[in-house]
Amino acid sequence: MSKRPELDAVTGVETTGHEWDGIKELNKPLPRWWLNTFYVCILWAVGYWMVYPAWPTLNGYTPGLLGYSQRETLAREAKAATQAQGGLRDLLARTPLADVRNNPELLRFATAGGTSSFQTNCAPCHGRGAQGAVGYPNLNDDDWLWGGSVEDIHKTIEVGIRTEQTNTRLSQMPRFGVDKLLSPEEIAVSAEFVLALSGQAHDAAAAAKGGQIYSEQCAACHGETGKGNSELGSPNLTDRIWLYGGSKPEITESIQTGRGGMMPAWARRLDPVTMKAIAVYVHNLGGGK
Ligand code: HEC
Ligand code: HEC
Repeated sequence: MSKRPELDAVTGVETTGHEWDGIKELNKPLPRWWLNTFYVCILWAVGYWMVYPAWPTLNGYTPGLLGYSQRETLAREAKAATQAQGGLRDLLARTPLADVRNNPELLRFATAGGTSSFQTNCAPCHGRGAQGAVGYPNLNDDDWLWGGSVEDIHKTIEVGIRTEQTNTRLSQMPRFGVDKLLSPEEIAVSAEFVLALSGQAHDAAAAAKGGQIYSEQCAACHGETGKGNSELGSPNLTDRIWLYGGSKPEITESIQTGRGGMMPAWARRLDPVTMKAIAVYVHNLGGGK
């Protein structure tokens, strides 16, 4: 039955007898080195199945002779890392906030932890560099709504601003326009006065009228001289740092609708040591008092 394999005329190599449209397949076996490597790989795989976790079973997997588990390795390493920090974490927990910066090693530890927790929890609102945005304060400068000591910052983080938390930081600028506490004319001159307070171009006659309204309506919160009040979170109106904008339309909008930004309380979401570390980090950004 079997024919002698025919030789290809051009190369002189045996053909397999397969032919397509006149093209013949040459009989070229795999090189030995390749085949051997292939067999070694198969043996390796079998060995691997026996030694390491490999096959899924109905209620788990084959554990392998070594009993290796990535999950356990990770747990062991995480535990070791926590233990390595242990001393410093405990020290941070015990050290009063204001004293943390007197211990360089502790300060470095708190800042490192505070930085990464800040990126996770705070950066979505305050920005990765804590630079803030309209309505979200810049935490790098020395202009603070609610106070810039490390204790003030820590309290802001803990209780939040205008939250449900009972001891939250709380105040509300009235909605002078929306609730018709002031007429549009009175709001316009008050805005001129705020422009004057902050050293911007303004209409002097209108600002003088606005000053009258300011003393009656605004000074209680923003202060007689407009420097603000950190008990009430009311901003300094004499500088060029604005939470909502310092142009005439933006100031008018602030007076018209009132303002009251909200920041979540973290006491129930972060552990005390983490809150401390973040407070130290924010205080150290440059504007801490
Ligand atoms: C959901 C957005 C949001 C998140 C998240 C957030 N904040 Fe705030 N934060 C605000 C807003 C809005 C204000 C300004 C509130 C106001 O107008 O009084 C604020 C104010 C502050 C202030 C007071 C600034 C000042 O001038 O007194 C500090 C400090 C602060 N945030 C720190 C943090 C830290 C630290 C975190 C992370 C643990 C954080 N914030 C997370 C929105 C947020
Ligand atoms: C009950 C206290 C209170 C009174 C009264 C009050 N404010 Fe305010 N004002 C605040 C607080 C608090 C904020 C900041 C709100 C926030 O952080 O979101 C604010 C914010 C502002 C801002 C925005 C500042 C910025 O940085 O963008 C302007 C402008 C302003 N007030 C002007 C006035 C003027 C003008 C009056 C009087 C007509 C007035 N306020 C009356 C508490 C008050």
